[in-house]
Amino acid sequence: MERSPDLPVADCLIGFPRALTGALFVEGGPPAPPSGSLPADVVIEEGRIAALLAPGTAPAESRGDLRRIDARGKLVVPGGIDVHTHMEMPFGGTSSADTFWTGTRAAAVGGTTTIVDFAIQPRAKSLREGLETWMARAEGHCAIDYGFHMIFSDVTDESLKEMPGLVGDGVTSFKLFMAYPGVFYSDDGQILRAMQTAAECGGTIMMHAENGIAIDVLVAQALARGHGAPAMHGTTRPSVLEGEATHRAIVLAGVADCPLYIVHLSAEEALHEVTAARDAGQRVFAETCPQYLFLDEGVMAGPDFEGAKYVCSPPIRPARHQDALWRGLGQDDLSVVATDHCPFCFKDQKELGRGDFSKIPNGLPGVEHRMDLVYQGVVSGRISVERWVELTSSAPARLFGLYPEKGSLLPGSDADLVVYDPARAHTLSVATHHMSVDYSAYEGLTVHGGVDTVVSRGSVVLHDGTYSGREGHGRFVTRRPASGKP
Ligand code: URP
Ligand code: ZN
Ligand code: ZN
Repeated sequence: MERSPDLPVADCLIGFPRALTGALFVEGGPPAPPSGSLPADVVIEEGRIAALLAPGTAPAESRGDLRRIDARGKLVVPGGIDVHTHMEMPFGGTSSADTFWTGTRAAAVGGTTTIVDFAIQPRAKSLREGLETWMARAEGHCAIDYGFHMIFSDVTDESLKEMPGLVGDGVTSFKLFMAYPGVFYSDDGQILRAMQTAAECGGTIMMHAENGIAIDVLVAQALARGHGAPAMHGTTRPSVLEGEATHRAIVLAGVADCPLYIVHLSAEEALHEVTAARDAGQRVFAETCPQYLFLDEGVMAGPDFEGAKYVCSPPIRPARHQDALWRGLGQDDLSVVATDHCPFCFKDQKELGRGDFSKIPNGLPGVEHRMDLVYQGVVSGRISVERWVELTSSAPARLFGLYPEKGSLLPGSDADLVVYDPARAHTLSVATHHMSVDYSAYEGLTVHGGVDTVVSRGSVVLHDGTYSGREGHGRFVTRRPASGKP
């Protein structure tokens, strides 16, 4: 890293013009909100943002000690926050292919500096036991900061009683499933009770909204007719069953007066339900994922079982849904883009479902490419740079109790930031990605814009394509209960 040249001390935008030693100094990019799009120098000390200074105004006394990154002509944005990942997740007799180390390293390379993963309650056991298992898996292995949501496998009197304790320990969100009967599924009564308890203790309910009971009928009928190819995964999970479940979840959350966050929303019908609820003032939020913005159902019909690479739930939809989702992102009907990163290798893992699509492990890789893919919305004019930052960082931080330590470039915030170069272009491929999976869902797609530098709590972990972070740098983050506006 080069040393900074002599710079005149001038006005301080925010923070204190004082001596800085051993600080990191990001020079002169336009930081995106909340500090606005003014060019400013970002000064980092002891892992936090110390000040935003007018360009070229670093304090003179210590300038020789400053490590400096030249961000002129580039964007300086808060590090990405991916609130939906599944590292090392057991599913369908196998386990997702990225470990906490390989998955968070790939996230860092792609400009994400915090993930919130999902700990799973083992059936007939406690939430706490599930959380401890996931804590042990992640501790000492993550490249970036990480938190956990809690997945309910069993809503019982006992597990409901555990919710306030988890909220107190910084695990403030709970995922329920209207899909996967016999595995994660909760019925409406269980859902309502969990929502009521969440409303009392400051929890947020996250919902996998697909009508799993109806889907299982369609799946059994398809298999009985001998239709086992991957494309049947989409046929048997029609978008109206996502719309119906989303409606039901919203009604139940309204009865319980509980904040509701719909995960991996893929369908126009579901978006209409969310939009109507938000327009009515209900605390309903939703995320979508890059796979629903960039891929269409045709990918599941690929030759020689290749379609299995794209099997996830909800399924990849017909192309007509994509426009609706982009509009939803632009109009704040959709609040967040997360990845639902849940990679399974094609070989030996996706292949478990040859001849029976219901046995294909569900999930796609993507944690590395979210910032770039959503940025394509800026390139195409569908969203602004500010909205890109909001969707990928600030909104998830606010909704999940991490703001302003994360998701902002304010003095006092954690120094998690990305220098993003709009002038770059690169092509996504299994040959170059860092995720531990043997295919790319976006093979051959050229994206415009690219990550130049990533700083995680003050440490440069990526610069000019070279990763220099380490396993175990990431810390567990406790999250506050979130309220948030609709
Ligand atoms: O197919 C998916 N989405 N796999 C991950 C588990 C889930 O439902 O989020
Ligand atoms: Zn889900
Ligand atoms: Zn998921």
